Amino acid sequence: MKTRVGVFFGGISVEHEVSVISALQAIKAMDDQQYEVVPVYISKDRQWYTGEELLDIESYKDLKQLLAAAQKITVTRSESGSVILQKNPVPKFGKREVAEIDVAFPIVHGTFGEDGALQGFFELLDLPYVGCDVMSSAAGMDKVVMKQMLRDSGLPVLDYVWFYNSHWAEDSGEIEGMIEQKLTYPVIVKPANLGSSVGINKAANREELEGAVEEAMEFAGKILVEPMVSDMKEVNCSVVGDYEEVEASVIEEVLKTEDILSYQDKYQGGSGKGGEGSKGMESTDRIIPAPVTEERKTEVEELAKDTFQILGCSGVSRIDFLIDQTADKVFVNEINTIPGSLSFYLWEPAGKKYSQLLHQLIQLSLKRKREREKLIFSIDSNLFNMQNAEGAKGTKTNN
Ligand SMILES: Nc1ncnc2c1ncn2[C@@H]1O[C@H](COP(=O)(O)OP(=O)(O)O)[C@@H](O)[C@H]1O
Ligand SMILES: [Mg+2]
Repeated sequence: MKTRVGVFFGGISVEHEVSVISALQAIKAMDDQQYEVVPVYISKDRQWYTGEELLDIESYKDLKQLLAAAQKITVTRSESGSVILQKNPVPKFGKREVAEIDVAFPIVHGTFGEDGALQGFFELLDLPYVGCDVMSSAAGMDKVVMKQMLRDSGLPVLDYVWFYNSHWAEDSGEIEGMIEQKLTYPVIVKPANLGSSVGINKAANREELEGAVEEAMEFAGKILVEPMVSDMKEVNCSVVGDYEEVEASVIEEVLKTEDILSYQDKYQGGSGKGGEGSKGMESTDRIIPAPVTEERKTEVEELAKDTFQILGCSGVSRIDFLIDQTADKVFVNEINTIPGSLSFYLWEPAGKKYSQLLHQLIQLSLKRKREREKLIFSIDSNLFNMQNAEGAKGTKTNN
């Protein structure tokens, strides 16, 4: 029997459309001899849908019509313990179940898809799912937490100052002092947990710093400030595996048209060029393989694998680096735990076909499920039901 794979995509983040592109690319590439795909589209207003019509990229041009034709569902556990897609609302008569799934494949970028929230939902369902678990997703999404974890393991990250919005509102002068003491202008100001360069700005002095922080605060409750690397090259490397075994992909160099790699650069093939918006991350201007020395290549590959394992990742991630060309140093900039196009374009030149990559990712999720089944999560007893009234009376909840 084929394994039924629920591919979850869309979502509420700014990367909604990119997710649709990434997911449809993956569905197309999946080996249909082995896997049966069940699409689950999450609309921007948090409704969930399934149906064949969701597989055609053209149909997203008229979203209203598409959603009227698709089947609205919820994902839930049936009484027999299987995970089903159930019609929403549940019909009074007739079949309530639309499909059953064996494994979830989240291809949702950004908020609530990549940050552990959706992963937590799958945990509650006891459904195996592809990619990072709750902890590594959350750690990878929060740029401050990620840097703290990497720095603790001695990996090269840029210096930084971070703070909560409320602290800034109370005493911005104190934070400005802290930033100016630790870092030198120009600096880069980022919301701690967003993607797609949203809310990121550079600041060359105190006045610009204030403007940049005010803007970043509109997007997140936690802000990160780091020195700006001026003479910079950006390279990315994808990693596949889990805590036991990892492999690194070919390295890419990404090219940008402005200081900060923008949403346009990332997804439309350079700003102003009006490139191919429908190709997703794959269409960014890039050089593959990146023109770097053999030594630098090995360094980046090792750092990418270390980052992946220190954060506890699983599946496929893309680790992004900033190379300070003046200082001739490499810094880990960030990790994307559900990268655009799942980084397949970095694996094909490494000899791994997209269908093979997808197969490997699904198998890794089943491996994790098998391993977790061996762990004890609960103890089979009911304290309220104990024969010994003494025991029940004296029970301490020291868990
Ligand atoms: N410290 C820095 N110095 C110079 N440029 C930076 C720095 N940090 C980020 N950038 C630029 O901003 C872009 C977006 O920042 P990044 O941390 O990758 O956030 P996002 O999660 O939004 O992609 C990077 O691709 C790079 O072009
Ligand atoms: Mg980035």
